[in-house]
Amino acid sequence: MGQTLLLWLCPLLLLSLWGQSSLSNEILGLKLPLEPVLNANTVCLTLPGLTRRQLEVCVRNPDVTASAIQGIQIAIHECQHQFRDQRWNCSSLETKNKIPYESIIFSRGFRESAFAYAIAAAGVVHAVSNACSLGKLQACGCDQKRRGDEEAFRLKLHRLQLEAMNRGKGMMHGVHLEHMPAEAPGLQDSWEWGGCSPDVDYGEKFSKDFLDSRETYRDIHSRMRLHNNRVGRQVVMENMRRKCKCHGTSGSCQLKTCWQVTPEFRLVGSLLKERFYGAMLIRPHNRNTGQMELSHARQRRRAGISDLIYFEKSPDFCEREPALDSMGTQGRLCNKTSPGMDNCESLCCGRGHNILRQTRSERCNCKFHWCCFVACEECRLTEWVSVCK
Ligand SMILES: *[C@@H]1O[C@H](CO)[C@@H](O)[C@H](O)[C@H]1NC(C)=O
Ligand SMILES: *[C@@H]1O[C@H](CO)[C@@H](O)[C@H](O)[C@H]1NC(C)=O
Repeated sequence: MGQTLLLWLCPLLLLSLWGQSSLSNEILGLKLPLEPVLNANTVCLTLPGLTRRQLEVCVRNPDVTASAIQGIQIAIHECQHQFRDQRWNCSSLETKNKIPYESIIFSRGFRESAFAYAIAAAGVVHAVSNACSLGKLQACGCDQKRRGDEEAFRLKLHRLQLEAMNRGKGMMHGVHLEHMPAEAPGLQDSWEWGGCSPDVDYGEKFSKDFLDSRETYRDIHSRMRLHNNRVGRQVVMENMRRKCKCHGTSGSCQLKTCWQVTPEFRLVGSLLKERFYGAMLIRPHNRNTGQMELSHARQRRRAGISDLIYFEKSPDFCEREPALDSMGTQGRLCNKTSPGMDNCESLCCGRGHNILRQTRSERCNCKFHWCCFVACEECRLTEWVSVCK
């Protein structure tokens, strides 16, 4: 009994250990985290910052909303990763309030705001559709459009098994995995849907219902938000991949079943970061035409469906200006030799930097113990660092 419980605990512990900063007594003491009850009271009423329409969406689907919020949190972390070496580093989005939409950057029309909208919307599609395929949500499951006929598949496999036995060969299942673009048709090899693909259509729809419902569809600000939300969602949808598994006599791949997977969220972050650099400035004076005209560095063109758009020039984020979501860069660690944005000259905005001797502690020599915990030592590291004046 004790043993089965431990075995069963393994994946749970692994999950909770991942990203945990230190081995906690809770885990050593094998205290089980209680499965949270996700209903309108525990989810929607504890979330400050929902609009009335979002609250309605939440009450209809509290479990999906909880996934969506998780997706937004993952998106904020990815934003921090993508902007770690920039003056505005996305740290302001990590608020106590799990809905970051009331933070300054979301209320402005900066390039950074465009990125924040897009990545949050992408995070919702990503988290919700994956939760669907994991069977965690009541309202959705596997993608019905990409579902194989399990009975037919079993029959086929059985027939192949019999044929192989007649030829005196052994059988092997699932010998290898392949990755390929989702919609590239196989050339000679045929395959069929099998397994469970995340329901991205549901994820997309929920992202729309939950996030776009904040907007009124009138002013340039709303149009910018809706457009960037769509760009974020699109990046997830367009980068779905197919994973396949072979079945048949060893190595033969006579039968291949495939399912879709969402792109790694790191990839979503990187692709959106590229769009951030190519973002287009839209001109507010066109607010009544329903068209978004753009002034880009040299040429004027219309915003493409996949361009991030913004309408306010960003501040330089050098000095502390809370109204602009600028914390200033004083005290930021910079790198004297970096060619990037974290170069001291650029990050410190020409104010110069101090060189300090700093001691910090870090987890080190981490060992994974089977099964299932990670034990680390704590190492103290003393080093010279450059810090913006
Ligand atoms: C991000 O910027 C803030 C404010 O300047 C700073 O306190 C924080 O340490 C920075 N985060 C990283 C990862 O550099
Ligand atoms: C500074 O930047 C250089 C060049 O990118 C890199 O090799 C080095 O590791 C960086 N130093 C620190 C402390 O991050």
